[in-house]
Amino acid sequence: MKRLIYLFAILITGIAHSQEINIIPKPVEVKAGKGDFILSEKTSILLYNDSNKQSADFFNDYLEKYYGIQLRIVANAKENFILLNNINENRTTEHPEGYQLKVNKNSVDITGQSEAGTFRGVQTLIQLLPVNQQPENGNQQLKIPFVTITDYPRFPYRGMHLDVSRHFFPVDYIKKYIDFLALHKMNYFHWHLTDDQGWRIEIKKYPKLTEIGAWRDGTIIGKYPGTGNDGIRYGGYYTQEQIKAIVKYAADRYITIVPEIDMPGHDMAALAAYPQLGTRPDSVYKVAQTWGIFGKFNNVLSPTEYAIHFMEDVLNEVMQLFPSKYIHIGGDEVSKIWWHNSTFCLQLMKEKGMKDEHELQSYFIQRIEKFVNSKGRTIIGWDEILEGGLAPNAVVMSWRGEKGGIAAAKQNHNVIMTPDNPLYFNRSQLQKDDSLTAGGYNPIENVYTYDPVSKELNTAQAKYILGAQGNLWTEYITNPRKVEYMIFPRISALSEVVWSKKEDRNWNDFKKRMACQFKRYDLWKINYCKNSY
Ligand code: ACM
Repeated sequence: MKRLIYLFAILITGIAHSQEINIIPKPVEVKAGKGDFILSEKTSILLYNDSNKQSADFFNDYLEKYYGIQLRIVANAKENFILLNNINENRTTEHPEGYQLKVNKNSVDITGQSEAGTFRGVQTLIQLLPVNQQPENGNQQLKIPFVTITDYPRFPYRGMHLDVSRHFFPVDYIKKYIDFLALHKMNYFHWHLTDDQGWRIEIKKYPKLTEIGAWRDGTIIGKYPGTGNDGIRYGGYYTQEQIKAIVKYAADRYITIVPEIDMPGHDMAALAAYPQLGTRPDSVYKVAQTWGIFGKFNNVLSPTEYAIHFMEDVLNEVMQLFPSKYIHIGGDEVSKIWWHNSTFCLQLMKEKGMKDEHELQSYFIQRIEKFVNSKGRTIIGWDEILEGGLAPNAVVMSWRGEKGGIAAAKQNHNVIMTPDNPLYFNRSQLQKDDSLTAGGYNPIENVYTYDPVSKELNTAQAKYILGAQGNLWTEYITNPRKVEYMIFPRISALSEVVWSKKEDRNWNDFKKRMACQFKRYDLWKINYCKNSY
């Protein structure tokens, strides 16, 4: 009788229905079976060796946080185990982030093409867990439906960007942001670390960059040009020790951080600290308190030997902190007027036979590229680096629409697509938003239906499109909850754009799967935009 009551109790309180299969981004192939694997405290994670320990830890942390369960990691198991395994790293494979996931009665088996592939497979497993169950002192049983999934990404670059200059976000939140990327199978975090409004990375050789450049004496109130200035000192920066910890945190999630040091424009914070970098070294430069670049307002670096070597020193420390093959050096929105009015610049242009300031910008970028290449790294620059001639090995990040990216691909340069429409997530996702957002309307459906490979490219040129990225500029995003409000749910749409096969994308099917994803957001306690479609 006791047993019967117990069974009955399980039936009514317990494990209800197993999760419908609603994976985002949509996998390449899903074959559903009949029945469920039961995950409970008795389940173990089987690792044959030390590889995939990060995946096991990530999964365990997730279970602990959302279901109150911790699994043992074992080297041998006969039943009720989750095997995390990968094919030999040395085997060359077309899809290193691919994986196969099989769920049957006895086991869940995730085999990645590499460790990264296993990790991506764990994200799928997470989405097979029930979304309605609350932690109940670890006594739970989680049903995982029988299924066989074969999966790999469409693009090798799947990114999200975050501007920490306009507003600063603490270390713990950067980690949380990286987790959001991981949960969406993204593999690049573009960290916009410097800009006019604040320098956010400690550089040992030039301490004033953060002593002075990380702080502004006020911020405009409201939308540009603002209704006044709050007069409140604002700032912050990441120490090199903090950055090392964040780089490791990302690497444990098979995410590469691409640091951006913006030059030769967007450098008022650097100029405030080291005025000798500017075209008017005797000026008093100030860390910017307003938004935008607005013509004469924001001075830029002068392309002197001093400034070039200064930035090389900065990049030298940056490259020691960030193992990324790609180093972003900005290159956007350089107010050429300062160079046009500088005797030094006019003289330099004459000496080098340059016909305009665009060529001078190319000269600056190419000098920096040479240095970065000499360390075995590759530069990424915003699409302005096309003007005046592309640096030989540069990757172009297309933001003023797609035309820069298309032009670069036609010149056989790698490209990352991040067109402001629809991939600037600082723009509103509602026709009418209660909170302040940057101009423009980028609804989720436009994100979902975006294709990074323009029809203007032929098959050979299309190969230069490495992928795409969502950008989050933070002029009007002052706190973590607003970050979430702006990126969710568009990040889920973007993840499918960059991961799933083009022919498998379907807006109505996506919306159906999103119903489940919204419950997952609730489980994660995300402040997402609730009525975005
Ligand atoms: C940019 O939005 N200035 C890259």
